[in-house]
Amino acid sequence: MTDNLTILGLESSCDDTAAAVVRMREHGAEILSSVVLGQDDLHGSFGGIVPEIAARAHAEKLDIAVNEALNHAETSLDRIQLVAATAGPGLIGGVLSGVMTGKAIAAARGLPLVGVNHLAGHALTPRLTDGLAYPYVMLLVSGGHCQFLLVEGSDRFTRLGGTIDDAPGEAFDKSARLLGLSQPGGPMIEREARGGDAERFRFPRPLLDRPGCDMSFSGLKTALLRARDEVIAEKGGLTRRDRADLCAGFQGAVADVLQEKTRRALTEAGRILSAPPALAVAGGVAANQLVRSGLETVSSEFGVAFVAPPLALCTDNAAMIAYAGGELFRAGRIDDMTLAARPRWPLDQRSPSLLGGGKKGAKA
Ligand code: KG4
Ligand code: ZN
Repeated sequence: MTDNLTILGLESSCDDTAAAVVRMREHGAEILSSVVLGQDDLHGSFGGIVPEIAARAHAEKLDIAVNEALNHAETSLDRIQLVAATAGPGLIGGVLSGVMTGKAIAAARGLPLVGVNHLAGHALTPRLTDGLAYPYVMLLVSGGHCQFLLVEGSDRFTRLGGTIDDAPGEAFDKSARLLGLSQPGGPMIEREARGGDAERFRFPRPLLDRPGCDMSFSGLKTALLRARDEVIAEKGGLTRRDRADLCAGFQGAVADVLQEKTRRALTEAGRILSAPPALAVAGGVAANQLVRSGLETVSSEFGVAFVAPPLALCTDNAAMIAYAGGELFRAGRIDDMTLAARPRWPLDQRSPSLLGGGKKGAKA
C-alpha cells in the first residue's frame, strides 16, 4: 500500500504558508503540486517578521493553501493517504496552526499523521529532487538556518557545526539595510557587488582560525557598519562605487567562510564514514553565485557530487515536508493527536542547538 503513497504536506513555521501534494513511488517521488503563500507584504514595513502577524496569517491562509494544492494536483482529500505537517522548529504560533490543521484533516478523514522537523524537510530535499543516496553532507544556509549536517537516514542526522550567532541570510539582510538597500538583502547585495572591488575593505573571516565547522556572521555586519561609517566620516557620504566595494567585500567574506568550513565538514564526515560523501546545499543563500561556485570548487577538490536543488525547493515549501513525512512513515513513524508543536527541535539530539533565536526562529 505504501509503494504509491500520496501525501498532503503542510508548512507554516516561518513566514510562508505552504501546502503540497507529493506522490512517493517505490523509487523516487513526484511533486503533484506545491503552493507557497508568502507574507512579505504583511511584514515589509516592520523590517522583520512579526510573530503575531505571521501566526494570524497562517491561521487564515492554511485552508486556502490546502485547497489550492489539492486543486493544482487535480485530486481531493479522498485520495490523500498521509498528512505530514511541520511540527517545529520555528515560530510557535505558525507551527501550532499547521499542526492543528494537520490533526483536523487526519482526524476527519481517518488518515495517519506524521509531524516533520522543518530542518529534516530541507535536509532530505536532494533526495526528493535528485534521488541523492545516503549518506551526504548538507549545508543549510538561509535567513534562519546555518548548519552542516551529516545525513545518513530520514531520522539520522549528525550536526557537524553551525552558526553561533546570525545565519548568513540574516547577515545579508541586515547589511543591506545598513547600506539603504531593499529586502531581501541577499540578492540586492549580490547585484551591487557585481562591479565592486572585494579587496578594498578588509573584512574578517570569523572563526577560520579555530578548528571545526562552527561559524559566526554577526561580526561581518559590524565590520561593514564600521567601514561604511569611516567612508561617510571621510567623504560625507557613500558613492555607488563605495557601496559596490562594501558589498563585494562582505559577500567575499561570507563565501570564503562557507567554502572553508565546507572543506572541514567534508573532512570530518570523511573521518566518520571513512570516505567523504556527496555535498548538498539548501536555503535561500544557496542562490548566491559566489557561494555556489565556492561549494562547487570544494566538491571537485574532494571528488564528490554536488547537489543544489532548484531554488523554489531550496527555500521554504511544503513539498519537502510531504516528502520527509513519506520517508519517515515508510520507516515506521506515525504520530497521533498528542503530536506537539515544538519551537525548538534540534535534528541531532546529541548536539543541542546553539545560540540565538534569529529573526526567523530557532536555528536549531
Ligand atoms: O530559505 P529562505 O528563502 O528563507 C528562510 O530564511 O527560511 O532564505 C532567505 C534568505 C534571505 O535572508 C535572503 O537575503 C537570502 O536568503 N538570499 C540570498 C540570495 N538570495 C536569497 N543571500 C545571498 N545571495 C542571494 N542571491
Ligand atoms: Zn527553512
